[in-house]
Amino acid sequence: MTDGTTRPVHVTGWGRYAPASVLTNADLERMVDTSDEWIRTRTGIRERRVAAAHETTASMGAVAGLRAIRTAGIEPDDIDLILLATLTPDYWMPSTAALVKEAIGNTRAPAMDVAAACSGFVYAYASAHAYIASGMAKHALVIGAELLTRFLDYTDRNTCILFGDGAGAVVLSAGDGPGGGLGFEMTTEPQGAYMIWLPAGGAKAPPSAETIARGEHYIRMEGKETYRFATRTLASTALTSIDRAGLRPDDIDLFIPHQANIRIIDAVAKGLDLPMERMYVNVDRYGNTSAASVPIALAEAVNEGRVKVGDHVCLVAFGAGFTSGAVTLQWTADPARGIAGDAAVRPEDVQVRLPVDWDSVDPIPAALAEVLARPVAPGVEVPLDDVAPGEPEHAHPEPVGR
Ligand code: ACO
Repeated sequence: MTDGTTRPVHVTGWGRYAPASVLTNADLERMVDTSDEWIRTRTGIRERRVAAAHETTASMGAVAGLRAIRTAGIEPDDIDLILLATLTPDYWMPSTAALVKEAIGNTRAPAMDVAAACSGFVYAYASAHAYIASGMAKHALVIGAELLTRFLDYTDRNTCILFGDGAGAVVLSAGDGPGGGLGFEMTTEPQGAYMIWLPAGGAKAPPSAETIARGEHYIRMEGKETYRFATRTLASTALTSIDRAGLRPDDIDLFIPHQANIRIIDAVAKGLDLPMERMYVNVDRYGNTSAASVPIALAEAVNEGRVKVGDHVCLVAFGAGFTSGAVTLQWTADPARGIAGDAAVRPEDVQVRLPVDWDSVDPIPAALAEVLARPVAPGVEVPLDDVAPGEPEHAHPEPVGR
């Protein structure tokens, strides 16, 4: 892996989208033998978002992607590469990125998915950086989007409490000035291949009545082994990318770690000998959104004023594979642009192409039907940055698109 400095590549746009429905720990208490107290103390999660029946990985990714394009102040057709990281694509084929390309109104870019589980966004970021640094692209849209709640067994308390839905995105652009992506690291350890996996549906175990009866279409996880891997790897992966950037951990103003578990983030801070204030945390509000977690956290951190021009930021993730990845960058964009970029795109204005002559089934897991049927409570947390200061609120009645 090089230090990635062939040609400066900057983050020029960022955006995110989270569906409106909230699944709380109290909801999960009614489904499995768990408690709010256990979930909060063992994971730090209070609630997570659940996509509505009309939403898909592509639709959420398209909203986040278009918001990132608006933040960058460019047109969709300026994008000449689209990479979408996900482990929950809409279909096996076509790629979810292809659907997103049309939904955002782009006619030029090659579009493809990146499969590296929760490290997927960081892998896609590094790949897009390489395309731009080498001159093969000028503006790349990099998206992390996940709809995990449709791949969970809501009778398995080991997994169903952890995950949620959402999407985040950045636009990476070629630039002349210093800064942007400075140091990269990616690792893959196949010894961990079956520590987090989804057994059926692929070529090894095609879907059948038997695989479904055995629940093999749901995510399975060895939590303890995954936890050990994460705490062993995250700090060292971050350190390598920081070192390749010519920096020391103390030079990093803000870490954006994968939001899987507050205890894992705490362990990274300890491993780097840094206070928790240097770690951005929003796992309490979204749970683990896999490939969407880092870009959602990055967009929120910037919009909340946690990142300033000139700051050094380290994005670091781990996931199934086992994979891990880190990007150390110097922030150069005006942080104020993100709020207006988000407000410029309403989810209902983004349309993903539907199949012709094909009756879709109801995609909502039975266990979540009640959660999705209830109106979105007025008390639902609405981040302050959801609406640009001085601009009117969206016309639609429900608070979607945060
Ligand atoms: N509610 C109540 N009790 C529970 C629950 C639950 N939801 N889940 C497990 N328990 C029980 C266990 O059965 C066990 O009981 P026992 O002692 O009677 O056997 C006890 O709680 C402790 O279980 P542990 O597994 O030891 O709990 P731990 O402290 O390790 O926390 C957790 C479990 C949260 C899953 C943790 O191991 C973890 O975060 N691992 C990493 C998971 C992760 O990040 N996965 C995402 C990877 S990214 C990707 O690519 C998808």
